[in-house]
Amino acid sequence: MESQKKKILFVCLGNICRSPLADTIMNKLVEDKGLTEKYEIDSAGILDYHEGDKADYRMRCKAGDRGYYITHLSRPVEKSDFEKFDLIFGMDDQNIRDLESIATTDEQRSKIHRMVDYCPSFGRKSVPDPYYGGEEGFTLVIDMLEVACSNLLNELENN
Ligand code: 4NP
Repeated sequence: MESQKKKILFVCLGNICRSPLADTIMNKLVEDKGLTEKYEIDSAGILDYHEGDKADYRMRCKAGDRGYYITHLSRPVEKSDFEKFDLIFGMDDQNIRDLESIATTDEQRSKIHRMVDYCPSFGRKSVPDPYYGGEEGFTLVIDMLEVACSNLLNELENN
């Protein structure tokens, strides 16, 4: 019998830059390793401001240059996400605080994790919001999330 899929949700503020990229990178890693039967991956935003929007054009271009094609449409986090998903990753401390305020039980709070903890080599405290900055911010986010997703998948597969 097929074991239950591990369900992973990536969360950022707008769900148009960081979390849809993490979702896309993780899906590609899972596909490349032939693990699609084992994982279900999605992303969502704290805000509903961009609901239904494609990912930010700048992020789609930069990610496309690395072979990541982001097709996700923005959606806000819902309370039911805390029941559906096993692991929920925020990109910065405000994301974590906002997620903690949506969670209603200790079990739900225990699902929340920091994506930056999976790429410590960058010496950053968060996966920084690139929205109001320049091109280099998008490149940094891609660099960080490539490493973090790879480390996360290795951890999941080796435990
Ligand atoms: P994200 O970036 O959280 O990585 O999707 C942002 C996108 C939109 C806004 C802020 C951050 N915004 O304020 O609209």
